[in-house]
This record gives sequence, structure tokens and C-alpha cells, in this order.
Amino acid sequence: MKKIITFGTFDLFHIGHLQILKRARAMGDYLIVGISTDKLNFSKKQRNPICSEQNRMDIIKELKCVDEVFYEDALELKRQYIIDSKADVLVMGDDWAGKFDEFNDICSVQYLSRTPSISTTALIEIVKDI
Ligand code: CTP
Repeated sequence: MKKIITFGTFDLFHIGHLQILKRARAMGDYLIVGISTDKLNFSKKQRNPICSEQNRMDIIKELKCVDEVFYEDALELKRQYIIDSKADVLVMGDDWAGKFDEFNDICSVQYLSRTPSISTTALIEIVKDI
């Protein structure tokens, strides 16, 4: 069985999130998703997510293309998460291109093109301006 792992915040769930998760799942037989905790998200993006980690996880785990979810607590644990999951492939959007190549020694690292013209940040800006 080919296992795929991916990571993200998935705040204000949108079509770009769905597309990457569906495409990641189609690359194998089992998709594991590491969901950034609120604390990790704050340290990465200097803001709290709109939706809590519990709500974000509740949404992702119900998706047909997702087999397993867990919380990503710290960036430094990524290598351990990949090893523990026994993933064959790490999938990330190409906004991260090259940034995870260090994990090529334990899995195949693949970057998928992002869905154009949508992001959580853009949605927040649009809603703010209304
Ligand atoms: N993603 C994507 N296409 C988009 C937006 C996101 O493929 N239009 C992917 C990212 O590359 C990542 C995953 O979805 O692999 C989770 O991304 P996340 O950072 O949670 O979403 P963004 O919308 O990019 O959030 P932000 O604007 O806060 O950076």
C-alpha cells in the first residue's frame, strides 16, 4: 500500500485545499494529513487561524479523500512525523518548492502546483474589504 502524507493549516477550507488533498490521495492508496495546531500556525504566519484546530481537523477528517489526520505541533518534528506515518511520498503545494527536499532520504518529496487565485489570506482580505 502506497502511503502519502501532507501538511497544512487548511483554515477557511477552500477549493485549493480540496484540490491538493484529492490530487495527493490519487498519488497513492492512503492519505495522512498533518494539520497545523493553532500555536504552530501563529509561529508560522503571525496570526491565529479563524477556525480552531479542532474545527479544522473535524472538516478534514470527514473528506472522502482523507484516511487519517493528526496535529502537527512543531516544524522540527516533521521528519519524525514522516517516519512514524511510514509515508512513501510527501506532497506539498509548490509554494513550498525545494523547502522539503531534505526529506528525500526517507520518502519521495513531490510538489504540486497550487490552484490559482485562491488562498486563506486572500479570502480574509476580501471579507475585510466588504
Ligand atoms: N494550496 C493549494 N492551492 C491554493 C492554496 C493552498 O494547493 N490555492 C495548498 C498549499 O500549497 C498547501 C495546502 O494547500 O499544500 C495547505 O495550505 P494552507 O497554507 O493551509 O492554505 P493557504 O490558502 O495557502 O493559506 P495562507 O493564505 O494562510 O498561506
